[in-house]
Amino acid sequence: LDPAVFHAALLKWYKRHARDLPWRGVDDPYATWLSEIMLQQTRVATVIERYQEFLLRFPTIRALAEANEDDVLALWSGLGYYRRARMLHRAAQFVTRELKGKLPRTAEELRTLPGVGDYTSAAIASIAYGESVAVVDGNVERVLLRVLGRPEDKGAATRALIQETAQSLIPPQPVRRTRANPCGDHNQAMMELGATICTPRSPLCLQCPVLELCQTRGEHITGERTQMQSR
Ligand code: ADE
Repeated sequence: LDPAVFHAALLKWYKRHARDLPWRGVDDPYATWLSEIMLQQTRVATVIERYQEFLLRFPTIRALAEANEDDVLALWSGLGYYRRARMLHRAAQFVTRELKGKLPRTAEELRTLPGVGDYTSAAIASIAYGESVAVVDGNVERVLLRVLGRPEDKGAATRALIQETAQSLIPPQPVRRTRANPCGDHNQAMMELGATICTPRSPLCLQCPVLELCQTRGEHITGERTQMQSR
């Protein structure tokens, strides 16, 4: 698996096919944080409405910190898993009181916030700050299990291999500071690939940008027809 070939093919695909989602291209780490918390357990279509409304009502970390918990929970309706909202609120209060309102900039420090685990910390650090850290969520795990030819393997050794492989595929940092964010784009492209092409059932292998690098291809080749039939 050649990382340069893989991320080049993936990024080219992503630039052409990325969905235009309201949290993409937003230069505000708080907005990235909010979107990733919402996206953890809720479908994109539902998150789109809730995300905009939430940001209008609580436009900054400080505004969120100063809100009543009941008002925060009310805006979370429809998203489910209300514990996420309580943790987010508590984290905003922690950032405001203890960190002078400044969200940490590294995955390692972000992980100290309530409700921010390995997945969310890596997502925020890479998307908002360009840190070279791989995001591994359920979608990315499935993509990589298939690419590595172990689609059914859930063992501990494989999990470690997934993490290692995910990190090895990250594109290099730009040599000068630019607006480009290859690592953030790459992580979002991996998640996007899992959500739209490398789906759990009937993946659309014929549209996959990394088909030729995938060890499971062939087992999963499903054209339009078989996909329709299996619905
Ligand atoms: N799922 C969770 N976060 C995502 C993101 N930033 N892009 C695509 N899918 C996601």
